[in-house]
Amino acid sequence: MMRRATTGLLLGLLCAPGGLLAQASPESDRATFLAAHARSFPGVAVTNYVLGGFIGSASARQHYQDIMSFPPFLPEVERGRVLWETPFRNGQTYADCLPQGGRMIAGRYPYYEPAEDRIVTFEMALNGCRRTNGEPEYRHDDRATMGLLTAWARSLSDGMPLDVRVQGPGAQRHYENGRRLFFRRMGQMNFACATCHLHNAGAVMRMETLSPAVGQAVHFPIWRGAEQLYTQHMRFTRCMEQVRAEPFPMGSEAFNDLEYFHASLSNGLPLQANVYRR
Ligand code: HEC
Repeated sequence: MMRRATTGLLLGLLCAPGGLLAQASPESDRATFLAAHARSFPGVAVTNYVLGGFIGSASARQHYQDIMSFPPFLPEVERGRVLWETPFRNGQTYADCLPQGGRMIAGRYPYYEPAEDRIVTFEMALNGCRRTNGEPEYRHDDRATMGLLTAWARSLSDGMPLDVRVQGPGAQRHYENGRRLFFRRMGQMNFACATCHLHNAGAVMRMETLSPAVGQAVHFPIWRGAEQLYTQHMRFTRCMEQVRAEPFPMGSEAFNDLEYFHASLSNGLPLQANVYRR
């Protein structure tokens, strides 16, 4: 308990506006998170942080592995493949539009685009392909289109280490905005993302072990109950609703910046799209 309080105080000092590390870097933030997670999950390898809520016990991990040995949602992911492969009306495809035919690229998203001073997520890149090929964009909150498309498109980068880069003052500004949102208390419960996924990671809430922030970003979309797809922004939305906060719109700049900060915490961990969650 004491240790947690000290970590919280230290982070408060580090992260307060104008705090000790006004110019925090992804490397130093990641190191701070990893040190806290190591205390919350003694003896657990960082590569196992990706297990999310299943990190807590051997039986939970076994249950996860049982489902993942024959995932019931694979037919849905196949529908995503059809969306990916079906050419636009002009005959072009996503593979023609994206670098490297769309393979082994998702680990570089989200990234900072200086020309428009904004963060570009993988979903925005897919919509960018639709736009440049004269197709209407998909809505970020539509599971049947954007959701399934990312399920397949992200799987083409399975195994690629996440490599989110923050370089230059513009990128730094968006990174710090995302970080501010991660630490900002919100909603009627007055919780921040950090309250659950940093300070209380490892604690059990409603029968679920609160997962560490490091490792959360690498396996989207997730399939809750093995059947309902959640993109990152859908999961962020769910967490904000849980604390009775008004969620930011999916695909908004606030969520994009939050994703930028949040993803960089998992840098170096291998991507694996489409995993089972409770
Ligand atoms: C009241 C506690 C609480 C707060 C606050 C909270 N979450 Fe969560 N979050 C959960 C629970 C419970 C789960 C499901 C179990 C788990 O993975 O931790 C979860 C899951 C997640 C996951 C999926 C992890 C995985 O591997 O499946 C992500 C990503 C996430 N939260 C991000 C956030 C972000 C970003 C915020 C702030 C906007 C936030 N959470 C705020 C409780 C919370």
